[in-house]
Amino acid sequence: MHHFTYRDGRLFCEDVALDTIADAVGTPVYVYSSATLKRHARVIAEAFDGMSCLIAYSVKANGNLAVLRTLANEGCGADVVSGGELKRARAAGIPASRIVFSGVGKTRSEMRLGLEEGIHQFNIESSAELAVLADVAKSMGKTAKVAVRVNPDVAAGGHPNISTGKSGDKFGVPWSEAELAYDQIAETDGIEAVGVDVHIGSQIDEIAPMQAAFERVIDLIKRLRDKGHAISRVDLGGGLGIPYKSSDTPPPPSDYANMIREVTEGLGLDVILEPGRVIAGNAGVLVTEALFVKPAPQRNFLIIDAGMNDLMRPALYQAHHDFMPLRERPEDAEQVRYDIVGPICESTDKFAAERLMPRIEGGDRLAIMSAGAYGAVLSSQYNARPLVAEVLVDGDQYAVVRRRPEFEEMVALENIPDWLS
Ligand code: LLP
Repeated sequence: MHHFTYRDGRLFCEDVALDTIADAVGTPVYVYSSATLKRHARVIAEAFDGMSCLIAYSVKANGNLAVLRTLANEGCGADVVSGGELKRARAAGIPASRIVFSGVGKTRSEMRLGLEEGIHQFNIESSAELAVLADVAKSMGKTAKVAVRVNPDVAAGGHPNISTGKSGDKFGVPWSEAELAYDQIAETDGIEAVGVDVHIGSQIDEIAPMQAAFERVIDLIKRLRDKGHAISRVDLGGGLGIPYKSSDTPPPPSDYANMIREVTEGLGLDVILEPGRVIAGNAGVLVTEALFVKPAPQRNFLIIDAGMNDLMRPALYQAHHDFMPLRERPEDAEQVRYDIVGPICESTDKFAAERLMPRIEGGDRLAIMSAGAYGAVLSSQYNARPLVAEVLVDGDQYAVVRRRPEFEEMVALENIPDWLS
């Protein structure tokens, strides 16, 4: 559920008309709904009511400081995958004790930062990484709490590019080596095993693959405990899918939570979750303006002012996003098929093919729906376009939470060497 609805023919985010924001801030602009973010965080927390469960919001989905602060205020922790994300989470007020550090390639300085901050745990993805973390921790006179991310060899996820739990994927320690990794930790100073971690993919639309992976992980935890490893935590990652179109029916958080409740029953484990998309995805839209319609043989190109540099998902994963005009059209309005494309000089700069829409004219504004996760975070300045702006709405108020940079700021980090002058 989200808070983007028509009122008297105009598309609103909570109590603010999106047109009002587009007039004031320009387009393209991401608009996030605080009420939706909070609702999603609460629905998940409530689904796990009564369990010891840390909701470590996955910062990679949307790391805007105002979004993070909103979720920090709801009690969320954070799952981070870089020193930069760790600093973002801390700057937004998320306590270090609620932060897990994931990611397949942490540098020594990132490990040091995590240890200085005193984060909850490191999720480690290889025996080599364990050795380096132990070395860094020892040099600081500390012991790092770790969970090994295991690769359970279970396929899941909405697209091959976002599936991570199959053997052959770069993620996690191969299943056959998982126990050895814990033996390595037991023999190494500077690291202490506290948990097991798994994350098999993203935009997962059924419970079964998650359950299969989690059951394997629970079996592993039992074996590790039998061997004397004190495993008290299980990190089950993120991955729960969201509806991008009305026909999508991902499992509700309550089904997901009930499955986890059953799988972990009676083991006294502290559960960690790393939801990203399910919290942020439907809490944001990208507002864009139609520039022109270009009829071409067998095609109508609808050219909008948002490009693949602003929203990469369609180009990267052939992802579907609904489009809603900011001015509501009558139900019997004439429908036209459009290829909706951006201004970038790439053929992959295409948001939809042959999409049936009410007739759109240059100057009409549209909201690209479900763009709150993996939208602005993946944006770039390709084609020397300024980074897309972001706005947060809360009730009847809104604020620009990332402004569009000036041209001078975009080139401020560049330098023309003396020998060229
Ligand atoms: N934990 C780990 C270790 C992850 O790698 C991810 C996502 C998450 C948690 C959060 O997963 P979520 O709950 O959001 O599914 N850019 C792609 C998605 C990439 C997902 C990367 N990892 C997209 O736009 O579909």
